[in-house]
Amino acid sequence: MTSATGRLTLLLSGRGSNLQAFLNAQDAGELEGNITAVISNRPGARGLEIARRAGIATEVVDHTLFASRDDFDLKLAETIDQCAPDVVVLAGFMRILTGPFVDKFRGRLINIHPSLLPKYRGLNTHQRAIDAGEREAGATVHFVTPDLDEGPGILQARVPIQASDNAETLAARVLPVEHKLYPRAANLVLSGRVILGDGVALLDHHVLPPGGEEWTPT
Ligand code: GRF
Repeated sequence: MTSATGRLTLLLSGRGSNLQAFLNAQDAGELEGNITAVISNRPGARGLEIARRAGIATEVVDHTLFASRDDFDLKLAETIDQCAPDVVVLAGFMRILTGPFVDKFRGRLINIHPSLLPKYRGLNTHQRAIDAGEREAGATVHFVTPDLDEGPGILQARVPIQASDNAETLAARVLPVEHKLYPRAANLVLSGRVILGDGVALLDHHVLPPGGEEWTPT
């Protein structure tokens, strides 16, 4: 059981399975914080339903209603500020964020990416890993910095690629690992054990490798 003191705001665009994982961790007393709000850029995101059913406050900032990326990010930042989070968790949030937005939340904005970063930034990670003949895929939780998927890693888990794998079967095996990895990584940030330094993440004052601390799924 951990002590839940920090405030988490989750941003999502879609199905919300990582949100569900955070809720499960919170219910199990395994999250060092409380999810106090969920924000989506898509009014129809299934993740919003999950949040509502769990009694979590929801907000929608619909990106289609804004003339520019800057305008959208300003409104998004204002909405996040109203939730007063300690950590902002991107959980399948499918928008590229502007530099000023990322800088504003520096050190407390985290994302999960379904690859062994720094390999395979961007989209279609599993297919690209299979096509390249990789033996391992995985997931990485990292600090968000202005360049897409380039921020220093916090925690990373490896998943073997099997000869019979296609992108779907691999994604289906990586996703449950993401669900265990992400709340654990958030705890490291909430507790202050992991911080963002100058282009690197530090765990207990030690510089982490680019992909973050290795975590072996149990
Ligand atoms: C996950 O695969 C995550 O790695 C990626 O987006 C997906 C979100 O899934 N960034 P969900 O909406 O949490 O189910």
